[in-house]
Amino acid sequence: MKVLIFDTAEAAAQRCAAHLLDRVRENPCAVLGLATGGTMLPVYDRVATTYLAERVSFSQVTTFNLDEYVGLASKHVCSYHSYMRVALFDRIDIDLGKTHIPKGDAVDLAAEARAYEQQITASGGIDLQLLGIGQNGHIGFNEPTSSLASRTRVIVLTEETRHANRIYFTKHADTPRRAITMGIGTILAAKACLVLGTGEGKSDAIAAMIEGPLSARCPASALQMHPAVTVIVDRAAAAGLKLGDDYQRVHPNGA
Ligand code: PGA
Repeated sequence: MKVLIFDTAEAAAQRCAAHLLDRVRENPCAVLGLATGGTMLPVYDRVATTYLAERVSFSQVTTFNLDEYVGLASKHVCSYHSYMRVALFDRIDIDLGKTHIPKGDAVDLAAEARAYEQQITASGGIDLQLLGIGQNGHIGFNEPTSSLASRTRVIVLTEETRHANRIYFTKHADTPRRAITMGIGTILAAKACLVLGTGEGKSDAIAAMIEGPLSARCPASALQMHPAVTVIVDRAAAAGLKLGDDYQRVHPNGA
């Protein structure tokens, strides 16, 4: 893994946005895997402002989001469909017909999951998969003990994840109990992965992902098996790394 450590969360998010924008500049028809969550908001903000300033066109870009809550209609204000519209899609020239997010309100969720995998394959596969990480080491909504070979499917969310996402809902009881998520096998099939983790709350998960044993206990550790992973962290999220000085020596200040 290529580990880039930045002094601040803002610098880390900026670097993450720059990496994404570079891929689109190199390949205007890129297939991007997108993530949601609080960590990604400054990234999408930066992407949208750079789009305006430099007119980096997304009109030919295809996107696949990692996950969606089960039971929420696309129009629900807390759905990841709404998140993506507000955070990014309505701010750039992307063709909404080329954007994909699993439908959490599909009548047949298993069929929806199968169709999602087929759509990814039909697109030629994901060129760059953007990933946040949960405090419990999840990527997408692949909670601990998910199969490291899993594909898109419905998963029951842990109480820890429900509590972390509680802030977006009126009350805990409203926080969805299930999600439809790309599997770890789906994520590993992407040509490249870009992980962003910021804040001290992520430091244990980041250390387990990079330096811990390969284990379903920390789903993100599966990325150790992927040949092209870049991890971008701020100092707080890097605090648990035993080999942090080594990563800094190889890539001083994220260079
Ligand atoms: P967060 O979520 O950015 O809101 O912390 C990340 C994740 O759970 O993958």
